[in-house]
Amino acid sequence: MTQANEAIDMQGPEFRADPYPFYARMRRETPIFKVKVSGFGREAWVVTRYDDIVGALKEPKLSSDMVRLRTEGGGARWIPRPFRILAKTMVTTDDPDHARLRNLVHKGFTPSMVERMSGRVQEITDELLTKLEGRDTVNLLEEFALALPMIVISEMLGVPEGQRAKFRRFMLHLLDGPPPSMWRLISGMANNIRMIRYLDGLINLRRTEPDDGLITALVAAEQSGDRLSQDELVGMVFLLLLAGHETTVNLIGNGVLALLDNRDQLDRLHEHPELIKPAIEELLRHTNPVQHSVIRFATEEIEIGGMPIAKSDRVILMLAAANRDEAVFANSETLDIARDPNRHLGFGLGIHFCLGAPLARMEGAIALNALVQKFPDMRLAVPRDKVKWRPNSLLRGLAELPIKLGPEKKERSLAA
Ligand code: HEM
Repeated sequence: MTQANEAIDMQGPEFRADPYPFYARMRRETPIFKVKVSGFGREAWVVTRYDDIVGALKEPKLSSDMVRLRTEGGGARWIPRPFRILAKTMVTTDDPDHARLRNLVHKGFTPSMVERMSGRVQEITDELLTKLEGRDTVNLLEEFALALPMIVISEMLGVPEGQRAKFRRFMLHLLDGPPPSMWRLISGMANNIRMIRYLDGLINLRRTEPDDGLITALVAAEQSGDRLSQDELVGMVFLLLLAGHETTVNLIGNGVLALLDNRDQLDRLHEHPELIKPAIEELLRHTNPVQHSVIRFATEEIEIGGMPIAKSDRVILMLAAANRDEAVFANSETLDIARDPNRHLGFGLGIHFCLGAPLARMEGAIALNALVQKFPDMRLAVPRDKVKWRPNSLLRGLAELPIKLGPEKKERSLAA
């Protein structure tokens, strides 16, 4: 994205490293503004104030139906199948289709269901941390922050161990691929075709070798009638794998970085592990693993914060900007792991409120508490300004997180 009226590159490395001063200025001066959205070749409104975003997330005249957006909203008339299947998921569909899709899987993600999995999550966490013992420097992102949610969602869905790394490679291409161009379109199409073949393969495996995972349950739902088409089944497995991999990794990765940036808060959590629940809410608010909503469009003319939004206009709800709104959060730029109340919008709101919120909260809490207890002296292994962010505006996450696990060694005096 690039700002239409200002010289600011919202995809650039400097902006990605710290977008918050810009959001603060926009909230103050131009709370709703237009940007050019890369890939769409069009403009979209960006909304930055908390109250305006809450209103918009509850607005039934804002649709997130991506296929409708591309066809009715003045975009492409026809969308090739490899793009269409992946664009027609629960989060990019309106009710009643959205509710039908969500009802098929919501039971697997309820707080009580997730609570039952916490023992297994603790076990995986301990195994991953044991592997780090005795090592000096590690890339905490790959070896812990990503590894944990990847194993958990794969086990929930029933993805065999040997096939898990492949999905991550598809994701890196899809989310961090080259900038928009004809080449990106062609290579993106090829990546999607391969990924759909891979997802088809997982679904066929669970048709012939059922287990107690979610793919098997969805296959049974598909076979029981018209509740789920084959394309919807592929879209569902895609969305759950994507959301399971690519969000919690950022909660853990960005969370560790924020705690290292605020050592007093890391020490506080180390001394008071019982603060982990409010700490996770605060890390969600402060680090925003998902920066903004999926793109919406107005099905009729509406107003947001007094600004007229014309029919078919696109809208991006900048959750990360809302979560630092000083009108709602006292000392909004400060990380306070005991913050209360904390009505952040990190998981969205309304009909698309994050289905995986209980799972993400539980995984984040177990992971960060265990890590901080085991390695309280951990520190960055590179200078702070060398920390690199991934080139994705929706999901804000680190490219890597080089960490020294032990305390800083004191320089030996020559006389000793
Ligand atoms: C820290 C981790 C996570 C964050 C910050 C997060 C954030 C969000 C947000 C902001 C939305 C709403 C998007 C919108 O309205 O445009 C959403 C939706 C969704 N999330 Fe998450 N998410 C996380 C983890 C997960 C996990 C682990 C799963 C499980 C697979 C998951 C599954 C979903 C699904 C399926 C939806 C769509 C719900 C619907 O459309 O009804 N998320 N998430």
